[in-house]
Amino acid sequence: MVHTRCHLITYGCQMNEYDTHLVQSQLVSLGADIVSSVDEADVVLVNTCAVRGKPVEKVRSLLGDLRKIKARRPLVIGMMGCLAQLDEGQQIARAFGVDILLGPGSLLDIGKALEGNERFWALHFRDDLHAHVPPPPQGTLQAHLTIMRGCDHHCTYCIVPTTRGPQVSRSPDDILRELDGMLAAGVQEVTLLGQNVNAYGVDQGARLAGYPSFAQLLRQVGRSGVRRVKFTTSHPMNFTEDVAAAMADTPAICEFIHLPVQSGSDRVLRRMAREYTREQYLKHVADIRRHLPHAVMATDIIVGFPGETEQDFQDTLDLYDEVGFDSAYMFIYSPRPGTPSYTHFSDLPRDVKTERLGRLVARQKDWSARKNAAKVGTVQEVLLRGAAHDSGFLEGHTRGSHPTVVPRAAGADGPGIYPVRIDHATPHVLYGRVLDAQGQERPLLNFPEAGQQRPEAAALVSPLPMA
Ligand code: 5AD
Ligand code: SF4
Repeated sequence: MVHTRCHLITYGCQMNEYDTHLVQSQLVSLGADIVSSVDEADVVLVNTCAVRGKPVEKVRSLLGDLRKIKARRPLVIGMMGCLAQLDEGQQIARAFGVDILLGPGSLLDIGKALEGNERFWALHFRDDLHAHVPPPPQGTLQAHLTIMRGCDHHCTYCIVPTTRGPQVSRSPDDILRELDGMLAAGVQEVTLLGQNVNAYGVDQGARLAGYPSFAQLLRQVGRSGVRRVKFTTSHPMNFTEDVAAAMADTPAICEFIHLPVQSGSDRVLRRMAREYTREQYLKHVADIRRHLPHAVMATDIIVGFPGETEQDFQDTLDLYDEVGFDSAYMFIYSPRPGTPSYTHFSDLPRDVKTERLGRLVARQKDWSARKNAAKVGTVQEVLLRGAAHDSGFLEGHTRGSHPTVVPRAAGADGPGIYPVRIDHATPHVLYGRVLDAQGQERPLLNFPEAGQQRPEAAALVSPLPMA
C-alpha cells in the first residue's frame, strides 16, 4: 500500500466532495501518495452520482477511457458512491472491469480493498462511518461538515434513499470535534451537510436522546468562533421557524437558505410525495422573511415530472414570481430505475420537457438579474478563495453565496474575508472593489488595462446541490 499512487475523481454533490476527502484522508494515513492525474496513478477511484441519467453517462464514459488505459498498463479502477450501490452501477462496473466497488456506506473499507489483489466489492452501511472524524482539509478557508447521512423521505423520483440508506445523524460530539479541527486549521466558513438537515436528530421517526434540534446545533456551531456558517439542504416538510430565528440572532449564520420546492403545483407535489403543499411552502418563505427580510433564497425545481400539465408548469412559474428566488438549480425530470415514478408513471416527451426548462431558465435569469442588480452600491462580506481565471482578479462568494469577482488590491491580494463594494452585476456574478476598515477603496494591484473584459467566476461550476 505504501507508495501506491492514487487519483480521485468526484461527480455529484457536496456530500460526495466530503466523502472523497474522507477516502483521500484514509489513503494518506495508510501511506499512499495522492496524484493529480490519471497518467501518474496506479489506482483511480471515481466517486459517482446516480441522481439523474446524465451523471451516470459521465461515469460510463470515464470508465470506458480508464478501461482503454488498463489494457495498456496495470491500473486498479475503483467505483465509489451512489451509483456503486445500485444494480445499474454494478452492471456497469462488471462491464468495464472495475476492481474495487464501495457503496456510500462502505468508504472506510478503502484500506482493506487495496490490501489484496482480489476484486473487492462492499455495499454495507458501516456504523463507524458516522463516528469517523476525518482530519481537516488543509490550506482552504472553506470546509464541508457532514452532520447526517441518508434520507427517510420517499420522494417518488429520487434514488437517494436507495443509494444512501435511511437517515443516520452523527453525534453532536463528533460534529463539534470535527469543527474544532477545522477551526485550528484556519477554516473560516463551514457548510453543514445532510440530505435533510432540518430533520437532524430525528432518525426514522424517533428523536435521538441527548441530540440537539437542528436549530440548537446551528446556534452551537454559530458560537464556535467560525466566521460563517451555511447549511444544505433543507426539506420544506421538516423546516421549522426556529431555524429562521437561529439564523436571525446568530451573526455567524449566513442569511442564505436553499429550500428545494421541486414544483409549484399541489397536484405534482402530491405525485412526487413531497409531503407539503404550495401554501405550506409559501408559509415557510414568509416565516423566513419575517425573521430575515434580506434572506437570499435558492431552490431546486424539477421540470416535466410525469403527468405535469401546462397548468401545473404555470403554477411553478407563478410560484417562482411569488417567491422571487435569487437562484435555482433547475432539472429536467430523469426517470431513475428503482424509483416509484419510474415504475408507475410514464415519462413526458423530451421536447415538452426541454421547452418548459427553457421558459423556466429565462424566468430565473430575469429574477437573478433583478436581485443581483439591487446589490450594486451595497457592501458585501466576500470570502475570496483565490485567483480567478485572470490572475489580476480574485474570486469568491458573499454570505448569500453569490459568485463574486474583484481586482487584486493592496492588503487583499490573497484568500480571506473582506468587505467589497459591488459596482457591477450580471445575472450570475457580482463584481466589486475591496474596501479597507474605513470603508475606503483599497488601491488596486496590477489592474488590467482599461476595457479588458471582467473574468467570469469559476464558482459557477460549483457542485450539484444535495439530493
Ligand atoms: N430527475 C431530475 N431531478 C432530480 N433530482 C433528484 N432526483 C431527480 C430526478 N430523478 C433533483 C432534485 C433534487 C436535486 C438534488 O436533484 O431537484 O433537489
Ligand atoms: Fe448524486 Fe444524490 Fe448521491 Fe449526491 S446524494 S452523489 S446528488 S445521488
